Amino acid sequence: MLNGKVAIITGGTSGIGAGTAEKLAAEGAVVALFGRNAERGNEIANKINSIFGMNKCEFFKCDVSSQAEVKNTVELVGNKFSHIDILFNNAGVMLPSMEIERMPVDDWKTTLDINITGMFLVTRYVKPYLLKSRGVIINNASIAGLQYYAAGRSYAYSASKAAVIQFSHQMAKNYGEEGIRVNCICPGIIDTPILGDRDRKIYAERIPLGYVGQPSDVANVVAFLVSEAASYITGAVLPIDGGASI
Ligand SMILES: NC(=O)c1ccc[n+]([C@@H]2O[C@H](COP(=O)([O-])OP(=O)(O)OC[C@H]3O[C@@H](n4cnc5c(N)ncnc54)[C@H](OP(=O)(O)O)[C@@H]3O)[C@@H](O)[C@H]2O)c1
Repeated sequence: MLNGKVAIITGGTSGIGAGTAEKLAAEGAVVALFGRNAERGNEIANKINSIFGMNKCEFFKCDVSSQAEVKNTVELVGNKFSHIDILFNNAGVMLPSMEIERMPVDDWKTTLDINITGMFLVTRYVKPYLLKSRGVIINNASIAGLQYYAAGRSYAYSASKAAVIQFSHQMAKNYGEEGIRVNCICPGIIDTPILGDRDRKIYAERIPLGYVGQPSDVANVVAFLVSEAASYITGAVLPIDGGASI
C-alpha cells in the first residue's frame, strides 16, 4: 500500500501516466499529474477524485522541457504536500519516424528536449525531496531503447530512450547509497494515443503473447516497483512488452 505517499507523474494527462495515476491512487497515494494539456489533466484528476475521494489527485500544468516551469511546479508541489516520495518520469513524445535526411531538425531536438532533457530537469528539482523521503524513481524508456531492438526509422525516439536507460543506470548506481531506488521500465506496444492510428492488429501479430498491452499492464508494474515489496530492486531495466523485444 502507498498510504501517505506523494507521487509526481509526468505525462499524467494521458495513456500510461493517467493509468498509473489511477493505480497509485487506488493504492493510497496522493498523485500530482504534470502535463501541458490542462483540460485533459483536470478531467483525469476529477475522475480519480470521484473514485478515490477528494484531494487524491491534482493536475499541475508543466512542460517538462522548460527549466523554469519544472522548477516552479516542483516547488509548488513540494510546498503544498511538504514531501514527495515517488517520481514517475513518464512524459514523452514519439514524432513521425523518417529517414535522417528528411527529418526536421526541430523534431530531433523536440524529441530529445522532452524525452531525456525533461527527465533530467524534473529529477534535478525533485531529488532534494526524495533524499529526505528516501524515495523512489521510475523512468519510462521503451523497448525502442534496448540495444538488441531496432524499431524502424525511429532514430530520435530510439536514441532518446536508449539515453533514458543509461541515465537510469547512472542514477541507480549513485543514488543507492543516498537511499533512493531508481528503476527503468521498457514498455512494448501499449494502446495509448501515442500510437496514433497505427494498426494494433499488425502489432499484435508480432507479439509473443498475441496482444497489444493496456496502460494498466504498465501501471501494475510501476505500482510494484515503487512499493515496499520491491525494496531490494534498483537499477533494473524491465521490458513490459508481452515478449515483443525478444
Ligand atoms: N504507448 C506505447 O506503446 C509506449 C511504449 C514504450 C514507451 N512509451 C512511453 O510511455 C510514455 C507515455 O506515453 P503514452 O504511451 O502514455 O502516450 P500518450 O498517451 O501520448 O502520453 C504522453 C504523455 O506525455 C506528456 N507530455 C508530452 N510532452 C510533454 C511535455 N513537454 N511536458 C509534459 N508532459 C508532456 C503528454 O501530456 P500533455 O500532452 O498534456 O503535455 C501525455 O500525458 C512516453 O514516454 C512513451 O515514450 C509508450
